[in-house]
Formats: sequence, structure tokens, C-alpha cells
Amino acid sequence: MTGQTKSSTSKADVPRRAPDCTLVIFGGGGDLTKRLLVPSLYDLAAMDVLSRKFRIIVVDRMEMTSEAWSAHLFDEISAFAKDKAGEFAHGRLDKSVWQKMMKNVEFLAGDITESEIYQRVATSLGHNSAIFYFAVAAQFFGTILKSLGKAKLFEEDGFFRRVIIEKPFGHNLASAKALNKVALANAREDQIYRIDHFFGKEAVQSMMAIRFANTLFEPLWRQEYIDHVQITAAETIGVEKRGKFYEGTGALRDMVPNHLFVLLSITGMAPPSSLAAEVVRSEKTRLLDAIRPIKVKDFVVAQYRAGKVEGEKRPAYRNEPDVDPKSDVETYAALKLHIDNWRWAGVPFYLRTGKRLAARKTEVAVIFKKTPYQLFKQGSADAMPNVIRFQLDPIRGLAMHFMVKEPGLEEVTTPVQNTFRYDDFFKSRANVGYEALLYDCMCGDQMLFQSAATIEAGWAALESVNPPKNRKLCFYAAGDQGPKEADQLLERDGRSWLPLID
Ligand code: BG6
Repeated sequence: MTGQTKSSTSKADVPRRAPDCTLVIFGGGGDLTKRLLVPSLYDLAAMDVLSRKFRIIVVDRMEMTSEAWSAHLFDEISAFAKDKAGEFAHGRLDKSVWQKMMKNVEFLAGDITESEIYQRVATSLGHNSAIFYFAVAAQFFGTILKSLGKAKLFEEDGFFRRVIIEKPFGHNLASAKALNKVALANAREDQIYRIDHFFGKEAVQSMMAIRFANTLFEPLWRQEYIDHVQITAAETIGVEKRGKFYEGTGALRDMVPNHLFVLLSITGMAPPSSLAAEVVRSEKTRLLDAIRPIKVKDFVVAQYRAGKVEGEKRPAYRNEPDVDPKSDVETYAALKLHIDNWRWAGVPFYLRTGKRLAARKTEVAVIFKKTPYQLFKQGSADAMPNVIRFQLDPIRGLAMHFMVKEPGLEEVTTPVQNTFRYDDFFKSRANVGYEALLYDCMCGDQMLFQSAATIEAGWAALESVNPPKNRKLCFYAAGDQGPKEADQLLERDGRSWLPLID
């Protein structure tokens, strides 16, 4: 859209300072800490919202001084900051901001499977508030939870104790339930923050505002007007150096019960009566609970073969490092879901995600029904008249497709598009996606985190296809839009995927 000025100040520019707390990072020497946690903390320090008494305790196996840890990260993160196209594009790091964040760091070298390290954490924390962050492999989540419980580190007495648990939260319903059981045996639900970085994306957070802060959408948001919904998370990257992890996970578990279901629940939930975390989370759970068991025929899994992505030659998945040359792990999944409730009866939700596809695109497209009566001649017979696209990544905006009359003497209609871009309205600022999540956890707001019930509802919805029974692994060339079987999934219903490349 044009003709609008960029907003100067919004509430988001002047947030309150977070309460005092110590961030205890288990696995503080790892990649997640370097790529996401510390850059996000830097952004929070730059916004001046960290408590003046903010502390970091790093727990890791390797021996290191806190000074060496901080100096090493400064070098690495300075390199990210220089990447103009990256989400952490600061140019040069501001040393005074860095020091504000790092002024109180303690490095505790130890083994997270031994009780001794938890005693040292307890001594260091004393009677202070803390957030325990699990930046370690998922197999250690249960062990750390039990050890924190045993060391009484979840006990609160005028201070808070919270835990942030990364994905994957289980690999099926039974394992997610088991992990929730361990978590809830040691901490209360309001102390447990199950993180999904899709909630950290500004454009994802804004979907709820678009739906519920406008009169325009809600009256149409139902089966009377909506034909179907397409949810896409397409990537151009392959498995990079994560072959080992990916071999045990695959596209379905890596992306669907978490990220795609986050998008599904925001798209489909009923309007909550308030923004209280428990109210919003229970509406999302209710939506996921209404998913009908998925039929094998409505489920496609595929793997990429060699090909060209954006003009660059790429190897087949089976030739990626740490991947079994005979692997039948899927790098693509597509599925059709039905939501059995009054609002969505008869409206299919098609979900797709994959690596090494033609373009990077995370998007929710809501496709409306045709007008009940076709008054005008249509220029293109298969044009979708009205579509609302929540563009989430890498473009962030909202696109609306509607029909206009083609200029000329005849009454012929044709679809056009009107687009709003966040960058046209708001000053863009570095945001790696964890800033809001860390800040909300410090402030005790769980709205952007998954509840035990939401996680379990997500896995329960996938039980019939996870692990995929009678699965037929299909193939696509790297750089394609996906396998032909995924196209057929929609063609069967007289529909087609929106193209990945606009
Ligand atoms: C992660 C998955 O959770 O999300 C990755 O493990 C995937 O495989 C990533 O690449 C996608 O997130 P984003 O924000 O890059 O779209």
C-alpha cells in the first residue's frame, strides 16, 4: 500500500524494563546460544529493557572462563552483525550495549547428567529469580528437569523460577506426554515455557491482531465464505550440518506439530475473550483438538533428489553429510486436514513444508469461495477471486487478491493484488526472533508459549500418520515446487497450490 507515512513511535518502542533475573543457559557453549540467544539478549540490551541486575550463568561441559566465553561470542556475533541481509544487521556491535548484557556472567563447567552442577547453580543463584534455558539436545530435557527438581531449583519464595524448553518437545504423543509428566512433576505449568520460534516472528504475532483488531475479517472467517486454507513453510536450504538430527526427525516432526500447527491454530482459533495466556492457549488447543484423524491418502511425504536451487547445483538428500545413502527420511510433507467444528466444517486445510524447494516462503493463504452467482465474464476461468495471504517470511506483509473490471469496453473481470508490507510502515530493526519470547518469559507472560495441552493436541492430531504407516516415499528434484503427488492431493479436490514464486 502506498500513501502512508511510517509510524514514528508506537507502544513497542517504549516497553517496560524486565524484572531482575538470571538466565541460566544449559548448553551455553553451543550453536543455539551463539545464533539466537545471545543476539536476542543483545537486542534487548540495546532496547534497554534488561534488568540492571541481569545475570547470565553458562553451564557447559567445556572448561572456559566467563571472559573467554564472552570474548569468543563477541567475535562471532560481530560477524553476524555485519551481514546486511541478516536478521541481526547492526553493522558494528555497540560495546557499551555488549557490556551491559555481559557485565555479570558466570561460567560453570560441569556435566548436566551429574547432580553436582545443580548444587553449584543453586549456590550461585541464592534467593534470586532465574530462567533455566535448555539449549541442549532434546534427549537431556527430562534429565535436567528432574535434576532441577531434585535440587529444589523450582521452589519460589518471593522470587520466580521458570524454565524454557526448546523443541522438539517429544517425537509423538506418548513421548510428549511423558515429557510433560516429568516437567509437571517438578514444576508448575505456569513455570514451564515451551518455546516455538515461529511465535517469535513479528508477522506471526501480528496475525492475531489482524484477525481480532479488525471488523473486516472475522465475519467472513468461517465455512460459509472460505473455500480452503493453504499453510506453507518452504525452504531453499537443505539439511546443512544437521544430517544426524534430521535422520531421526524428518520434515513431519521437525515442522508440522510445532511450527505449522502454530500457524494453523492462529488462523483457525475462535476469538479469545482476552489476551490472558490461559484464555488464548485454550482457544488454540480447542482448535487442534478438533482436527479429524488424518487419512493416509491425505498425506504425502517426499525427499529431494539432486537439482538446482536458485541456479545453484545441490546434491540429493541421500548425499548430504551424516545422511544414510539409503535413507527414506522425508524432507517434504504435505497433508490435508479437516477441522470438525461449526466454523470450519467442510473447509480443508492443506499444509506443506519442505527443504530445497524453489523458494523460501512461509505463508498462510485463505482462499475464499467464488461469488454465489457469476455476474461477470472472467478473464481467467481458474482465477481464485479472493485470497488473503499472511506473508510471514521472508516477505512480511498481507496481500489481498480481489477482482476488478479489466479496462476496456467489455465487462470482464480479472484478479489483482493489494499488498501491505511491514517494512513500508515500520522502522525495521534487528530481530532474530527470540527477543519477544525471552522478554515475555522474564515478565511472566506465557501467551506466546505452548501449553502442555496444546503440545499434546498437536501430536494427537498426527497419531495416524506418525510414524507414517504404509508410507510411500515420493521424490522431487531440489529446486522444484514439491513432488507431483502433493499437487495431486489438491487436484483431486479441484484445487491447486499457490505458486512458491510470486
Ligand atoms: C527449525 C527446524 O525449527 O525451523 C529447521 O528445525 C527449519 O529445520 C527452521 O529450517 C525453519 O525456521 P525459519 O524461521 O527459518 O523458517
